Amino acid sequence: MRITVVRGDITDQHVDAVVNAANSSLLGGGGVDGAIHRRGGPAILEECRRLRAGHLGGGLPVGQAVATTAGNLPAKWVIHTVGPVFTDGQDNIGPLASCFRESLRVADELGARTVALPAISTGVYRYPLEEAAYVSLWTLARASTSVDEVRLVLFDQKAYDTFDRALEALDPSDAEVEDELRRVPEEKWRELFELADGLTTEDREFTWGGGEKNEDGVIQWPYPRYSDRLWQLYVALPSANADWMKWMSGNPLRTEPARLAGAPVADAARLATVYVRGERFNDGVFGRAFQDGSMDAIIARLRTWYDTER
Ligand code: APR
Repeated sequence: MRITVVRGDITDQHVDAVVNAANSSLLGGGGVDGAIHRRGGPAILEECRRLRAGHLGGGLPVGQAVATTAGNLPAKWVIHTVGPVFTDGQDNIGPLASCFRESLRVADELGARTVALPAISTGVYRYPLEEAAYVSLWTLARASTSVDEVRLVLFDQKAYDTFDRALEALDPSDAEVEDELRRVPEEKWRELFELADGLTTEDREFTWGGGEKNEDGVIQWPYPRYSDRLWQLYVALPSANADWMKWMSGNPLRTEPARLAGAPVADAARLATVYVRGERFNDGVFGRAFQDGSMDAIIARLRTWYDTER
């Protein structure tokens, strides 16, 4: 499936299905919803009303999707989906990802091969653009669907730039990163897990060197002094040949190792790369990852993949 990011008006898109950022009432609103009903004409609302009179009497739940005619739009169908209203302290990612997965599921049911989608929830529903872009694109990239092209249609330059950056972060793909992991020799995997299993609290502690004047009177930059076992792990960790800076800039969730358990193993390899490559700045990022649980989450995810998924 091709994923494209364009700047424009979703009601201008000549595709099989246009996804609407609706609300649960399905009875119209502003933003994308307003534009689709305005341009698509009354036939769309009439079908929405029939849905509300039928099995959607209570409205369309957040994260779900349903199709109607596209009326006068240059498309065959409109797939209405309801994004989450961004709420601090709640799981916003799950419902937003569900909107994209469910929209593709409905598209597959319809036999739609080209689908245009807006930046769901990033308007009235206040979902921060950067996280929404990452969640949307990585959900689409990981969806199994018969759709040939999904086209993210962004209304303004800021949204377009944000989604384009998130699209960049998809390269290399999960499958390519997993292929790299499969090429890691058995003994390297065994060494990694043995080192990790033997880690003690002392191994995780580190001090700082540098800060003194050398013989030329220049003060040496501070540098972290890791245990031998941490340095051995630094060498043993497989990393993805990913452009980790691109991945980081397009992926605001990188700092959530707790999410790794449910994420593709490629994200664990990418995050390992961030810590290994980031170490070049000598600011102890690698050592701290062993103190805040990040590295344990990464190695646990790699081990699950190694033991049961590869
Ligand atoms: N084409 C493409 N994108 C658009 C268009 C358009 N014609 N109009 C607005 N957008 C963009 C907005 O700039 C925003 O980035 O779509 C994104 C989603 O914004 P909203 O339409 O406000 O949708 P959402 O945040 O999901 O809120 C849904 O708003 O319009 C009401 O009835 C709708 O109650 C529902 C709520």
